[in-house]
Amino acid sequence: MTDDFGPTELWEPETRRDPHAFYARVRAAGAPVPQYDPAGNRFWIVARHADVLDGLQHPDIGHEVHRHQDRDLSPSPYPPSETERISSRQLIALDPPDHTRLRRLVSTAFTARTVARLEGWIAGVAADLVAQACRLGRFDAVTDLADPLPVNVIAQLVGVPDDDRARFRDWSATIVSASDYDGSATLAFAAYVDDLAARRRAEPRDDLISGLVALEAQGDALDRDELVAMVQLLLIAGQETTVDVIANALRLLLTHPEQWQDLRADPSLASAVVEETLRFRGPVEIVPPRFTFRELDLAGGTIPAFERVGLSLWGANRDPEVFSHPDVFDVHRGDVANHIAFGYGSHFCLGASLGRLEARLMLEAVARELPGLRLADGAGDVEDVRLHHGGALPLEVRPPTQS
Ligand code: HEM
Repeated sequence: MTDDFGPTELWEPETRRDPHAFYARVRAAGAPVPQYDPAGNRFWIVARHADVLDGLQHPDIGHEVHRHQDRDLSPSPYPPSETERISSRQLIALDPPDHTRLRRLVSTAFTARTVARLEGWIAGVAADLVAQACRLGRFDAVTDLADPLPVNVIAQLVGVPDDDRARFRDWSATIVSASDYDGSATLAFAAYVDDLAARRRAEPRDDLISGLVALEAQGDALDRDELVAMVQLLLIAGQETTVDVIANALRLLLTHPEQWQDLRADPSLASAVVEETLRFRGPVEIVPPRFTFRELDLAGGTIPAFERVGLSLWGANRDPEVFSHPDVFDVHRGDVANHIAFGYGSHFCLGASLGRLEARLMLEAVARELPGLRLADGAGDVEDVRLHHGGALPLEVRPPTQS
């Protein structure tokens, strides 16, 4: 029954403390549950695994709702600013045909082979970070271990030269934390991408930006705003998600000591730890909102036209119809492959193999090099690491005999 829900429950502190109890009720409700966000927008929340999959693949649910309405409800007399133009070209917010075209172009340059080639380099960065943490003795898993990894990996993948890395990291920190209030970081970043693209046009290298500008010669390429938007999206989509997986995997291991011992005894379990972390506590609670393009039936109910749909990956990944004992963190479970923490369908995470690789290599390095790792004394109960709330995970390294 959807009447059993308060109108803003999803955002209330009690639900934030235990969102899984809320999603269990949504799964049982038998219809999408309407919820109002703090800005007053109505979302129809869907949480059963099968229904979330239906929603992710539904041809009449998508992002570019203005294309389906008779008139643009918010026509602006002004041309869009540069930052507005760039953000409107982001892959993640587009539908076919633009999404299909851009995704195809980017996939050509962002192949599994490109990602696999980075393995040795990423393992080296992870090993350095772990060695540094070991020297510190007491450290924060978020700032000292997880946070420096993805931004450096994205810089390496894109082809940002060593001398430019510090600037690249500064812009990305501002852009990723959504604190670029006047747009200056986005504009400086855009000018930098223009410059790098020009350099790679003149002298191609073996990197993503060279691959993307090479498409121009074939007459089918990303335009300037699309290129900037793509590099920016890699940062926005690839930074916090990866940090979140690494930090929460460490938290879950250290609060399930027998599974931490299993990983130490057999570091090849790292992949299974990453997958179970993604299922049990993935970084994306609800996929970026979509809209219905007409009135339609979903999840046992009817959603009016032009309304927001909230497809919950946290709800889907704890669905007891798909996962046995779903609320138990178990790196040995047999059904983890059914998780949809990277989404599904046309917007399936472009960086899934990269994110998996980074998290696995970091966990392998930690298991190998920090056998005496534990939650820091006095750190209190660490129930979750929530990056948007200043999430931290204080850890310390002790000789294994004392741990
Ligand atoms: C490691 C954990 C990660 C998780 C759990 C994750 C999760 C997701 C999810 C759920 C989506 C789908 C969003 C939707 O359906 O609207 C997505 C899309 C995307 N992700 Fe990831 N992501 C991760 C890492 C990365 C990394 C490392 C990169 C790249 C460097 C990346 C780049 C992207 C891009 C470009 C999209 C948009 C794809 C499209 O719209 O076609 N992600 N990610």
